[in-house]
Amino acid sequence: MALRTSPEVGGMGHSLKRKEDPRFIRGKGTYVDDVQLPGMLYLDIVRSPHAHAKIKKIDSTKALAVPGVLAVITGEDLAKYNLHWMPTLMSDTQMVLPVEKVMYQAQEVAAVLATSRYAAADGAAAVTVDYEPLPVVVDPKKALQPGAPVLRTDKKDKKDNHIWHWEWGDKAATDRAFTEASVTVKEDIYLPRIHVASIETCGCIAHFDKIDGKLTVWMTTQAPHAIRTVFALVAGHVGLAEHKIRIISPDIGGGFGGKVPVYPGYVIAVAASVLTGKPVKWIEDRMENLQADSFARDYHISAELAARQDGTLTALRIKTIADHGYADAAANPSKFPAGLFHVCTGSYDLKSAHIEVDGAYTNKPPGGIAYRCSFRVTEAVHTIERMVDLMAHQLGVDPADFRMKNFVKPEQFPYKSALGWEYDSGNYAGALRKAMDTIGYAELRREQAEKRKRGVLMGVGISSFTEIVGAGPSKHFDILGLKMFDSCEIRVHPTGKAIARFGTKSQGQGHETTYAQILAEELGIPANDIQVEEGDTDTAPYGLGTYASRSTPVAGAAAAVAARKVRDKARKIAAYLLEVAEDDLVWEPGKFSVKGAPGKSKTIQDIAFAAYTNHPQGMEAGLEAVSYYDPPNLTYPFGSYICVVDIDSGTGEVKVRRFVAIDDCGNIINPMIVQGQVHGGLTMGLAPALFEEISYDEIGNIRGGSFIDYLLPTAVETPKWETGHTVTPSPHHPLGAKGVGESATVGAPAAIANAVVDALWHLGVRHVDIPITPAKVWKLLREKGVKE
Ligand code: CDP
Repeated sequence: MALRTSPEVGGMGHSLKRKEDPRFIRGKGTYVDDVQLPGMLYLDIVRSPHAHAKIKKIDSTKALAVPGVLAVITGEDLAKYNLHWMPTLMSDTQMVLPVEKVMYQAQEVAAVLATSRYAAADGAAAVTVDYEPLPVVVDPKKALQPGAPVLRTDKKDKKDNHIWHWEWGDKAATDRAFTEASVTVKEDIYLPRIHVASIETCGCIAHFDKIDGKLTVWMTTQAPHAIRTVFALVAGHVGLAEHKIRIISPDIGGGFGGKVPVYPGYVIAVAASVLTGKPVKWIEDRMENLQADSFARDYHISAELAARQDGTLTALRIKTIADHGYADAAANPSKFPAGLFHVCTGSYDLKSAHIEVDGAYTNKPPGGIAYRCSFRVTEAVHTIERMVDLMAHQLGVDPADFRMKNFVKPEQFPYKSALGWEYDSGNYAGALRKAMDTIGYAELRREQAEKRKRGVLMGVGISSFTEIVGAGPSKHFDILGLKMFDSCEIRVHPTGKAIARFGTKSQGQGHETTYAQILAEELGIPANDIQVEEGDTDTAPYGLGTYASRSTPVAGAAAAVAARKVRDKARKIAAYLLEVAEDDLVWEPGKFSVKGAPGKSKTIQDIAFAAYTNHPQGMEAGLEAVSYYDPPNLTYPFGSYICVVDIDSGTGEVKVRRFVAIDDCGNIINPMIVQGQVHGGLTMGLAPALFEEISYDEIGNIRGGSFIDYLLPTAVETPKWETGHTVTPSPHHPLGAKGVGESATVGAPAAIANAVVDALWHLGVRHVDIPITPAKVWKLLREKGVKE
């Protein structure tokens, strides 16, 4: 995209340095835990050692004797106010604190309120709970079998652990296509439980002011407005009305979906503050964060792909069991219990597809958040990219050629997928070709053939993913009934500087910079003259928040639309000042000039001043606008990633030697920030591919509940990412932009998994579930008779 503004103005396409970084790199950010209020109390939580157990007794005597401990809060206490259960985002229910039984290891059992964090922790350790263990259900497949212990005994009519059945697509046509297919492949793919592990854990400070009856909550939330409404709906009966609730999301140290849900700790802190009239701080520790907050993935997928003999793909059929833990607390749009999993036909022109998903209750933490992805799109991408690779290998066709043959072609856009999505734009072959040229694909294949003769294990893996971001068009997308629009409000001050507020909330993505750039592009006001604010429900316009890479597609579009409204008014003022008709004016970023007389012009700064000092009579003073943007469609960013792995046949270690990522997010606002997003996203894609997993033993003990065995990649394990891009603008977004924050996390794991299988295919290996640990590969190699 050609630059329309100077570096000084810093509109779209300029790699402006991030405005937020001076405070972050100096350690001057304000995170929830930095907020200190006079008289503040502290909360710590007692958690269950059992995965399923009846609570016989909670004894608080010793805890109350700890100096500084003021109260021990139990489910019985909350039950008096009907606050011991709360609704989840998927209209299920989950406990705030239990009254009868616990449902997973690390579940909240009681909370201790104290005058210091240390006293609260000592108090929590001193609470004694008498449990009676109950049978534990860990495996969702067993959970769905007849005779499995029914977990949700709180639901009077519930006789099994089945949450919902959801299916999409044309079953008859898909079955027919499979009957007619010349070649089919089938694979069971498990995408394990993982956890986002943001640098900052979750927490809040709830401050109920008894004098004015107002509750202010500083909170690690990605969606402050939605939280305010949910609080008002859930706690209205105890007197919390929405105008008396203020949610403030200060700086946030990474969200990645994990800071969308409402966790019990938030609710307990609010209840404690309302009861005491004091500010109450709750900050979870690292292990609580890993063990009890919402997980991601945990999809048991069984997929089949059909093709004609000539390699033309025809149909996709998927059955999935979704393990939701003991409650369906997934962060999904209401209509889609399996999120956007039905974008699983990916970048390929499949004529028919059918998917079925069944949700299951187990004795694990509730959730089902996206882990830097747009509501289950990673699960969809991983499935289709693994299956396409499997089919290519099965047919003996190069996986790149096979993709090229089956891609949706540029001239097919807007493209209606077999599962009903309308892809806005794309050029999949262009991105793959660029990735192949960058990495030297043909040469790598020659090297691989030569090494294979010598028994050296090397693989090349491709992932040509399509994302689906920007939830969403309100006709299809809501969360708890709240339509998924987003907003921007701009006020231009008399001296030409501006403030803009948004319904989204950055957690490190750089919105203060990029939103200012959008406004600079549209208004010609330098980005550095525009202050961007988010995250305070008392000041920002209502919006649904930041997750699923929706900020640019939705709030970014709102920024453009609001700016254009400002410009429309500015045009009227300019016409008045220049004494010409509006139609006689031409706009270039930053000024209106008279057609044919470029010397006669008014800058946006002149106009802003006039809006307050010399506006036309009959026109309202001021220069401001607000937009609540309801996108007509989602945006479909895409990319092609190629990964080269070397596998040590002695240890089973997989080394990512090279990784080329070509992304297309349409028009780019800030190239440096986009590159940063891709780098971070790739590392968060490497993580589940090779390292991260949370699993449970047969009695529900968590494995992977601390950083000792929940492995995060460090700089040492992270390869040098080679990034590039193509630009295919979104035809419906006002700026032609698509989201990008999650693309790399969505696309990367399949490229790595495909590379590993590619390295081992000749040995008879057809699939390896992620994380592909050295132990897994070592075992496979030994099974296949490879000598150490
Ligand atoms: O919703 P979230 O901010 O996580 O995701 P996003 O909309 O993909 O944006 C992530 C960051 O990349 C933001 O700072 C965007 O403004 C920036 N971005 C960009 O500069 N150009 C794009 N086409 C898309 C995103």
